Amino acid sequence: MYPLRIDPKHKDSLARTGVSRQFEQELRCSHAGETGAVWIYRGILATRPAGTLRAFATEHLKTEQQHLHLFESLRGCYRTSLLLPLWRMAGFLTGFIPALAGKQAVFATIEAVETFVDLHYQGQIQALNRRTQREAERAILNLFEICRLDEVAHRDEATQQRTVTPPRRLILWTTLVGAGSKGAVSLARHL
Ligand SMILES: [Fe+2]
Ligand SMILES: [Fe+2]
Repeated sequence: MYPLRIDPKHKDSLARTGVSRQFEQELRCSHAGETGAVWIYRGILATRPAGTLRAFATEHLKTEQQHLHLFESLRGCYRTSLLLPLWRMAGFLTGFIPALAGKQAVFATIEAVETFVDLHYQGQIQALNRRTQREAERAILNLFEICRLDEVAHRDEATQQRTVTPPRRLILWTTLVGAGSKGAVSLARHL
């Protein structure tokens, strides 16, 4: 288990002076993303009373809840997205729909989502790192990096379990999921 929480001394500093506008946007965006992630796994679990996919989703859900908890703990620094109900619903359907089609569709979906999330965290970390010298903000970026490494592990696990080449309709679905994730990020930065 890792310490996925902000050091109290940084938390005090953040509570006193807040964060820059860019940090505020990226925190809102990642809070929205981690909310969606929790609901993806809830969507999968809704279709599976038992079995290996249930075990996979339960394990991943635990990690996503820790990520969400981290962003919840920083809520004093930013306004959460006004579209949270939409992110929950979109997340749920992103898990539920492929789970109806079968395990391989779920693994391909998780692989696509986590590939996107890895790149998204990388972009955030690089961009924000350039814009701050502040210790408390740098501490937030270290936590982003811990989350990113978890997402990479999720992606790799899904890749390992995906044993068949995705059929055309599944490739269309994962392309749609990727495009939807991109659109959601742009919206959640501001809304
Ligand atoms: Fe996550
Ligand atoms: Fe993840």
